[in-house]
Amino acid sequence: MLTRLFALAILAFPAVALSATPPVVTSPDGRISVQLSASTDGRAAYAVSRDGKPIIAPSPLGFLLTDAPKLDRGMLIGEPEFSQFDETWEQPWGERRFIRNHYNQMRVTLTENFKPFRHFDVVFRVYDDGLGFRYEFPEQENLKELKIGEELTEFDLAQDGTAWWIAAGEFNREEQLYNRTTVGEVGYAQTPITFRLADGTHLSIHEAALVDYSGMNLIHVEKRRLKAALTPGSDGFAKVERAAPFNTPWRTLQVGDNAGALVESSLILNLNEPNKLGDVSWFRPMKYAGVWWEMHLDRKTWEYGPRHGATTENVKKHIDFAAENGFGGVLVEGWNVGWEDWFGTGFDFDFAKPYPDFDFPALAAYAKSKGVQLIGHHETGGNAAHYEDQLDAAFALDRKMGVHAVKTGYVADAGGARAYGRDGKVHLAWHEGQDMVRHHLKVVTEAAKYQIAINPHEPVKDTGLRRTYPNWISREGARGGEYDAWGQPGNPPEHVPTMVFTRLLAGPMDYTPGIFGMKTRSPNGVQTTWAKQLAFYVTIYSPIQMVPDLVENYEANPGPFQFIKDVAVDWEESKVLNGEVGDYVTIARKVRGGNDWFLGSITDENPRELKVPLSFLDKGRKYTAQIYRDGPDADWKGKRESIVIEQREVTAGDTLTLKLAPGGGQAIRFMAH
Ligand code: NOJ
Ligand code: CA
Repeated sequence: MLTRLFALAILAFPAVALSATPPVVTSPDGRISVQLSASTDGRAAYAVSRDGKPIIAPSPLGFLLTDAPKLDRGMLIGEPEFSQFDETWEQPWGERRFIRNHYNQMRVTLTENFKPFRHFDVVFRVYDDGLGFRYEFPEQENLKELKIGEELTEFDLAQDGTAWWIAAGEFNREEQLYNRTTVGEVGYAQTPITFRLADGTHLSIHEAALVDYSGMNLIHVEKRRLKAALTPGSDGFAKVERAAPFNTPWRTLQVGDNAGALVESSLILNLNEPNKLGDVSWFRPMKYAGVWWEMHLDRKTWEYGPRHGATTENVKKHIDFAAENGFGGVLVEGWNVGWEDWFGTGFDFDFAKPYPDFDFPALAAYAKSKGVQLIGHHETGGNAAHYEDQLDAAFALDRKMGVHAVKTGYVADAGGARAYGRDGKVHLAWHEGQDMVRHHLKVVTEAAKYQIAINPHEPVKDTGLRRTYPNWISREGARGGEYDAWGQPGNPPEHVPTMVFTRLLAGPMDYTPGIFGMKTRSPNGVQTTWAKQLAFYVTIYSPIQMVPDLVENYEANPGPFQFIKDVAVDWEESKVLNGEVGDYVTIARKVRGGNDWFLGSITDENPRELKVPLSFLDKGRKYTAQIYRDGPDADWKGKRESIVIEQREVTAGDTLTLKLAPGGGQAIRFMAH
């Protein structure tokens, strides 16, 4: 019976060439290969292997719709279309200047073998460092609007292994400590999620170009099978609602022989579209001071009152500090009205109305006279809709005041943001649902019109959109340095060595490194050595890096502070010299437009001795290595401040032995002669 039905369907089927064998596409170096096949009931599945060894076993593709039959069974696989691409593009700013975008592409149309023959394309782009695939829905009579209840994409890992991940759906969004489990113990997880497979292959699953769609999480089904679980919609909305034609985000798999290869991969950026903004030279990568840490230590307040932080006088002090030390910006939080009762509500915020003791025009003029930019701050309390209503007024004011970068904030529990829905009404929303995804891109594109760059906290995850919109400069989206001020607990020593191989694969993070005052409101204070705080400036990539500690803590410690003054924020090249997820990592970066190199090395709670050949340095050049290393008695539990600063002459032929204390690190500037 089934066969007869099938045959009848084929007879009525529109003329489409079908693929005779399961289509395959391989990476330019031939190591990674992706195959598309269909099960006996016509469910399409993709499988990935590397060097002939399976990494992803056949894993289904498809969609569950809320107002129409699901789209996954009875799929006929069309004849594949192949193409190649090889181009090198330049980043306006970044962890490296030039990026090669080299892939083999396979496009396949999947068509239902029954009426009304709904269809979509699956496009695979296979690189040497991984792959991306997405669904593309063309315009068609019987699939005009999709209400997606769930995406049925799966990732069935073909080997056992270790996974590093944070839970999805938790109240504190992305601000969590990482789990390290077997693949089978993964629960409901956010991406990026990183794996070390049994044979040592490293793999990270994430997404690229998340535009007008819901963020993808993964849920464990059985054995090693993980399944997409899109962020929920709000108030009865489907998880995603889109009219065809449209494309989903890319589902990405970064693959490497070791952990460092994942960090060096540019896959996520390559899968995004080229720069749509043109010249963004009005934004310059910079280090910035701020009226900020004082509030997190509860010495000052965001709200107006006797301990108000954002006073004209205090901001001036920070402008002076920035100017004296060559930092480009000063962030000011708590400058605008509405901070009295804001957490998770945000209704009172006015983004164009300063508190009476903050003289915006005078400060703008003062900053300008000192060659410093004020950095704006728009905390929304998660009330994205209220903020959208004021976007123009807010950015117009900033532009008038010479502000070219704004930090935004969405402090509300997960599921408690407020966003405009597709019906134009305000709904409670998840931070990574479709409506918030739209909101963030709206803020970024509106800001670009005013030559303003955006750095959101409590953001939507990074999916490489900085390539397309290079004013989307950084974001938080993980447990940042602020947890060392008041966290219960703070950030343990393994936190950053884990994030480098997980969260940071997505893109830049505004972590706020560089704390010297180790006693805070958090019971364990700052759980690193000083040398590790310095090394964060190199190991955590961001085109804006804060210099967050109290001015007096820097003034009292000119020795280690010198590294923070010297370290660059924009790079010609970045190399991962060694590392294991959650244990340690050493990264070297060459300054953009200069000859100096910087190196940062960090470890978890274990001390380490790492031999580092300096072969990354320019051949034939001599360097003075200015070394900031843990003192012999340094320890994150004891003498965190113990640091040795010394110099030696080196060339690319030398090898250094880095001795890292428990919870320690090392930072080096290689000054070219
Ligand atoms: C949380 C942000 O991460 C932090 O940097 C900011 O100071 C507060 N929200 C207030 O906006
Ligand atoms: Ca935060």
